[in-house]
Amino acid sequence: MTSIPRTLSWQGELPGRLRMIDQTKLPAEFLEIDCETVESVWEAIRSLRVRGAPAIGVAAGYGTIVGLQGGAYANRSAFDARLTDVTDYLATSRPTAVNLFWALDRLKHVAAAHPDLAPSAMLARLLDEARAIDAEDREMCAAMGRHGASLLPQAGGVLTHCNAGGLATAGDGTALSVIFAAVAAGHDLHVFADETRPLLQGARLTAWECRQRNIPVTVICDSMAALLMRDRKVQAVITGADRIAANGDAANKVGTYSVAMLAQAHGVPFYVAAPSSTFDLPLASGADIPIEERDATEITHGFGRQTVPDGVNVWNPAFDVTPAHLIKAIVTERGVISPVSTESVAAMLS
Ligand code: MRU
Repeated sequence: MTSIPRTLSWQGELPGRLRMIDQTKLPAEFLEIDCETVESVWEAIRSLRVRGAPAIGVAAGYGTIVGLQGGAYANRSAFDARLTDVTDYLATSRPTAVNLFWALDRLKHVAAAHPDLAPSAMLARLLDEARAIDAEDREMCAAMGRHGASLLPQAGGVLTHCNAGGLATAGDGTALSVIFAAVAAGHDLHVFADETRPLLQGARLTAWECRQRNIPVTVICDSMAALLMRDRKVQAVITGADRIAANGDAANKVGTYSVAMLAQAHGVPFYVAAPSSTFDLPLASGADIPIEERDATEITHGFGRQTVPDGVNVWNPAFDVTPAHLIKAIVTERGVISPVSTESVAAMLS
């Protein structure tokens, strides 16, 4: 296996910078960029240079450090005011992936727990916390792989939607970590990747990751999933999630809901893999999950070419919610939730 580059990493100590793979350039070009201002981190999240719920959380953690370092703080209250500004600002970058808010809240809680630390010591402590978020995410990816691998067939096809791999996390991914772990355990799997309109995370990123690992992969247009299932080419579907409500309803890349409905209609098990940082337990159901709506040009002028006539209405929600009853199991770093219900989610996560 080729060595897989880190999706994002902290470079240096303090001051340092956030390095990330610019995912908008893949697969044609492999480019790493360094973010040295909080504005550039915000832009990178907003424009999907870094994307995928856990990776957005890790980027927000390091992005907070980028936004705090270099300031001349007269005292802790000046530092805390800047922390509030930076975290409030980063929180506006994207609305759906709860990992973003989870990571920002985690840093704010650490600061609140250490009111006596001077600004420079507090900043160093926050960098430790951002690094812990990064390291824990890697561990959670590995644990999801261990817990979920046996759910996948010993041999056969597995369909996934969007990219829930190493590019979407600090580690090996969520859904793809399960696939990678199954392959490592000897399962003979063929990955089918929905291309994932409109931004093609499946075609560009999931296919790229599978190629890096020499795992056979076939890209299909999103509209081909029904035929794929009818022809029995896949024995399981597994995706990631951006936010999971207390009852197990799971928001993920738009189109996931359609795939889950198709899976039910064809008797194919539909699984979700997500770390505990993706659960939003105060939300009773998926109806309360905010769904990001993105610019119409992603549909009308995708990848440099106009494909919709001028003046036509366009609707571009980036996510949809798959109801819990369509999900056979949710793989977390703590274990597998199945059947999926408010009670079983609470039992695993409380
Ligand atoms: O808009 P994106 O590319 O950030 O959407 C990403 C997804 O929907 C992923 O499936 C999800 O974040 C899970 S990533 C492990």
